[in-house]
Amino acid sequence: MQDISTQMISGYRAHPKFSFPAPSWEIPSDVLDTFNQAYSVIHAMGYKLTEKSFGALRRSCSESLAAIFSAMHAQCADGHETHFLNELKGQCDRLLAEELAWYGKKRPAMQVDLSPQANRENALLLDAQRHYFGQLPKAAVDELRAIAAEQVDIFRANAAAGKLTRNDLSVNTGPVVARIRAVLNREFKALGVMDALGAYTGRKLKVVGLALELSVPQATWWRNAIDGMERPPDTLYAHLDETVSCPKSIVYLTDVRPENGATSCYPKAYEAMRLSPLQELIGRVVGYIGANANSPLHEYYAKNYHQSVNSERFRRHFMRLPDALRFNSHMGWDVVPGSELEAALAAQEMTMTGPAGTFIIFDGGRLFHRGGMVQQGERVALQVIFSDLTLPQRVLGKLTRMLA
Ligand SMILES: [Fe+2]
Repeated sequence: MQDISTQMISGYRAHPKFSFPAPSWEIPSDVLDTFNQAYSVIHAMGYKLTEKSFGALRRSCSESLAAIFSAMHAQCADGHETHFLNELKGQCDRLLAEELAWYGKKRPAMQVDLSPQANRENALLLDAQRHYFGQLPKAAVDELRAIAAEQVDIFRANAAAGKLTRNDLSVNTGPVVARIRAVLNREFKALGVMDALGAYTGRKLKVVGLALELSVPQATWWRNAIDGMERPPDTLYAHLDETVSCPKSIVYLTDVRPENGATSCYPKAYEAMRLSPLQELIGRVVGYIGANANSPLHEYYAKNYHQSVNSERFRRHFMRLPDALRFNSHMGWDVVPGSELEAALAAQEMTMTGPAGTFIIFDGGRLFHRGGMVQQGERVALQVIFSDLTLPQRVLGKLTRMLA
């Protein structure tokens, strides 16, 4: 896929809902280069560095980040903009610490088995395309459906009664989830998924968390396009997940066709965005600004369905970011309908349809994707998280919600 970074920049400029008179903030480009270089070194080879050099690079990242934000702070026009930057800086600091720790973590001595032909192909696909598709055996699908049956009936009753929140239609803790996790770990191991993921990440991964979900056509939150546009973009709901450390899987427990919640992805779109490290970091967290009820921007933005770009005030702040830093990891909503960018992304889209048991293994932080949008019928699916950590359920619940 061709470079789409220029189209992304001009797309925001040309978007009627993102045009504001205030100029973007200016930042010192040499400091930005320092940040991006220090981050890139840790990203590529952090686990090989001495503690001393790792520490120096980490300090360089946080000092240059502070300098960039302080330059923008000096150009704020009012208190709301200051709050915007304060929250953005806090979120960047948090995610930066998590990502650097992940890249710096020493890797275990490990070997993966790529002798079966399928394992080799899948490992290569993950490496080249950041995803691959697979199919669970029928016996495993029957077993998973039997474990999930009672819970899915509860979801269906909720949907029939008009209860459509995430809590009404999904579960990510408890005995049913634990039993499904055990089956998935057994089946994925047998299918070589852990070997393919081990080859891709250099870590020993297993299924640590999952959500069992029912998707129904009445749940329309994802359709909530930007108000006042003639039609939503074809890329609606396409996004990158926040975390770079936990690959994911979506496993269908019902047959899925294009109209009942097929997951799709845009191979190579992430690479074609040519994001710089700080731009990417900002894009992964910018949606959190004003989301918390305690935030001074919460009422000011008055976001709809947690979609930041529905708030004109959020968009105005977002456009104050310089081109070199502007990114929204949920940019599927921001694409101008009818634009070249929309066409370029649509041409890349691969849709996963298939019988129950069809699955995708993918790096959600680096594969642009979307899913679960049901026009008619329903979809029962598992949203699965792999990690090298055994995370407490509390954290997993949060992670599962975050990754959706
Ligand atoms: Fe996602």
